[in-house]
Amino acid sequence: MELIYFKNVYKQYKNGVNALVDVNLAIEKGDFVFVIGASGSGKSTLIKLLYREEKPTRGDVYIGGIKVSKLRNRKVYKLRRKLGIVFQDYKLLPKKTVYENVAFALLVYGLKETEIRKRVLKALDQVGLKGKYRSYPDQLSGGEQQRVSIARAIVNNPKVLICDEPTGNLDPETSKEIMDVIESINKEWGTTIIMATHDKDIVNRMKKRVLLLDKGMLVSNKEKGGYSK
Ligand SMILES: Nc1ncnc2c1ncn2[C@@H]1O[C@H](COP(=O)(O)OP(=O)(O)O)[C@@H](O)[C@H]1O
Ligand SMILES: [Mg+2]
Repeated sequence: MELIYFKNVYKQYKNGVNALVDVNLAIEKGDFVFVIGASGSGKSTLIKLLYREEKPTRGDVYIGGIKVSKLRNRKVYKLRRKLGIVFQDYKLLPKKTVYENVAFALLVYGLKETEIRKRVLKALDQVGLKGKYRSYPDQLSGGEQQRVSIARAIVNNPKVLICDEPTGNLDPETSKEIMDVIESINKEWGTTIIMATHDKDIVNRMKKRVLLLDKGMLVSNKEKGGYSK
């Protein structure tokens, strides 16, 4: 069965904007998928439906057998435990060290200190930041801060890593490094990746599956696609 499944999904915001229109798609475990399209085409809305930040107006969204679209608020935490989420603006806690930022996501599980340490260092190693675990976010470059946010997202070994414009604040060289990190997680951990981006160079270079949105409609769904027509 598909890991992620959208069935006739519509999203209309309260102001009347149709952000998604009859979207149908399936994503398998281990897939790496880009979601592309012009600004305002619905990329972030599609991402928000995955982690139940928004609910569809019509239709259903499933992840790993969970019907996300009907999930009650008090059960959302169970869904989010299976997901890692990375944003354009990192969202790190400024008064906590790199180590503490990554460990924070694990504290709710009541794990032993040694187990937390093992997992945090493994995640930091995966993103190439093991040596900076004592630093604070404002002592790091943008690319390094994004690496921390990726480590935080994967520390719980989620089934799915969801990224909304993760390279949006980074220069092309740093963006490439971040994409290498995300690709390594997909390859080595088998994590399913769904990434919204408007960076044509990244999408064209990486030759992954591409979902193209246009005014909320899924107009193309290609294996090894690109941004250009
Ligand atoms: N919370 C909201 N309330 C009303 N309209 C919204 C909201 N969020 C997004 N929109 C609108 O929905 C459309 C799709 O937005 P979005 O999903 O953010 O697109 P993208 O990420 O591709 O730029 C846009 O027209 C946007 O203005
Ligand atoms: Mg967006």
